[in-house]
Amino acid sequence: MSDVSDSEVPIITVDGPSGTGKGTICSYLTDWLQWNFLDSGALYRVLALAAQKREIVNDNEDALAELAENLNVEFKVAGGGSLVNVVLDGEVVTDEIRTEEAGNAASLVAPIVAVRKALLSRQKAFHKAPGLVADGRDMGTVVFPDATLKIYLTASAEERAKRRLKQLMQKGISANLRDLSASIAERDERDSTRAVSPLKPAEDAIIVDTSTIDIDAVVAKISELVVNKIPDLPNK
Ligand code: C5P
Repeated sequence: MSDVSDSEVPIITVDGPSGTGKGTICSYLTDWLQWNFLDSGALYRVLALAAQKREIVNDNEDALAELAENLNVEFKVAGGGSLVNVVLDGEVVTDEIRTEEAGNAASLVAPIVAVRKALLSRQKAFHKAPGLVADGRDMGTVVFPDATLKIYLTASAEERAKRRLKQLMQKGISANLRDLSASIAERDERDSTRAVSPLKPAEDAIIVDTSTIDIDAVVAKISELVVNKIPDLPNK
């Protein structure tokens, strides 16, 4: 049992569209601080996959909300820190949920109010000592509005598409820049214009544009923000 009350357990939220370096930054922070990690996007991706497997269509909002409520998903820390295996109904789906299609499928179930409501307490449950790094779209605005430090990463659409192409090529997956740009633009539009929890920076978020700085510089900048905001870090 921890003797630290919930409100004292620090939270760093990292929001922003895909391809801005959120994943890399969150891995870095989680490994550095040895805190808990919430990959909220993985929850929406897993939900979309579970719905596909059960042949639940996106119009069936009641069934999707019920599925979200009872989703049998586990995030199993694999090798410490930020490395996590995602297990759905006992089956490892870590790679299956990482595709471009899975991201798009996630963004189609994500606008449903009842789905977001059903996933809320599951996300809040990640808030445990010694601290939490939360990656998503609405971490600083809706899920953890009282977070200790809120970071919002942004980058030009062109740069994000190039990064995504590089990542896919490294994995041996073929793709082309034009299709990727279109898919990213479509997902951004859906995520930022939806009525509930749209993608946007919290009023008190610190916006970091990663378009023209490399990842080492982003890491250095964010480390500085963390140290300034949370002075007595146990794992500094
Ligand atoms: O971050 P990731 O690319 O894994 O997210 C996949 C999709 O899940 C996003 O495009 C968005 O539609 C949805 N999502 C969300 N709220 C979050 C995290 C992800 O709506 N907090």
